[in-house]
Amino acid sequence: MEDNFGHQISYLRISVTDRCNERCAYCMPNELQEWLPKGGVMSYEEILRVVRIAVGLGVTKIRVTGGEPLTRRDVIPFIKRLSEIGGIKDLGITTNGTLLSRSVGDFKTAAAALADAGVRTVNVSLDTLDERKYVAITGRPYLNRVIEGIDDLIDSGFEKVKINTVLMRGRNEDDLIQLVNFSHQRNLLIRFIEMMPVSSTDVLKDSNFLPCGEVIKSLSDTFGCLQSRSDYKTNGPASYYMIPGRDQLIGFIGAMTNFHFCESCNKLRLTCDGKLRPCLGSHLEFDLLSEIRCGASDERIANFIRGVVVKKPKEHDFLSNYQPGRKMIAIGG
Ligand code: 5AD
Ligand code: SF4
Repeated sequence: MEDNFGHQISYLRISVTDRCNERCAYCMPNELQEWLPKGGVMSYEEILRVVRIAVGLGVTKIRVTGGEPLTRRDVIPFIKRLSEIGGIKDLGITTNGTLLSRSVGDFKTAAAALADAGVRTVNVSLDTLDERKYVAITGRPYLNRVIEGIDDLIDSGFEKVKINTVLMRGRNEDDLIQLVNFSHQRNLLIRFIEMMPVSSTDVLKDSNFLPCGEVIKSLSDTFGCLQSRSDYKTNGPASYYMIPGRDQLIGFIGAMTNFHFCESCNKLRLTCDGKLRPCLGSHLEFDLLSEIRCGASDERIANFIRGVVVKKPKEHDFLSNYQPGRKMIAIGG
């Protein structure tokens, strides 16, 4: 599928829940807690149907997100069913990492169960290695569980675990070197993410915004001049840099400062309440679940998806004063 700006759409991000067991300041602070009623959330059967149809249209990569996807009951058997759909080359999950060490069914850890379910890549959110700051950022004392969870992923054979770190001036800017070293020791791929205006909270103030460019400079002061590696690409919009003399790549997701950010976008998003969104940074969304529940045929759903792709904007609206209309948690990162 191709949109009007030459974006080739091959990637579907699916939010399976709006719920989370943490309260990250930039995503879901305490005051924002109106969970969706259960009946408004897509069932696993409904999601599987959409995915089968989307694969028929050229989607080859799926990422399961939330909220925190591992808080939804039976999500791992659901993921296993996703992996059994022919045509999916890449199946990933984005998690806060707090539930990876729990035992699940016959598996000693959720990490091992995810490996068995056919997940290839796991992205773990981690903004600091300082327990106190971790609590201040996420509202929960779960740092040790996350580190244990990361180690369980490594033990379960995941090759390239990614770490997502949201950049916040005054909150974690002094922790980035430690996170880089932690990632180096464990062979994790760390990506620094500029904060995007997708929540409505005081951390989203300009004074808390820390641009990627500044981090590249300050890491270069410590590690030597970071070398751009434009040849290295993952599925997402990150730009990668290499630390000289060390075989370590670092990713930067600069949605707010990189003018070319949207050029290679290949994504559609499905929210947990069944809205198809062509772009994270735009208010556009289309109610696919209502179509499904009105008895739409596969053909009609395929046309609906094609119609959303055609409406995909050239680029996000974050810079032209986009006011968050929906919590990140309901959109799914
Ligand atoms: N800006 C940037 N990244 C965010 N995430 C959540 N909220 C924001 C925000 N406002 C990140 C999380 C997670 C991923 C799904 O999105 O850290 O890793
Ligand atoms: Fe939960 Fe992730 Fe949002 Fe934090 S960023 S509140 S862990 S969904």
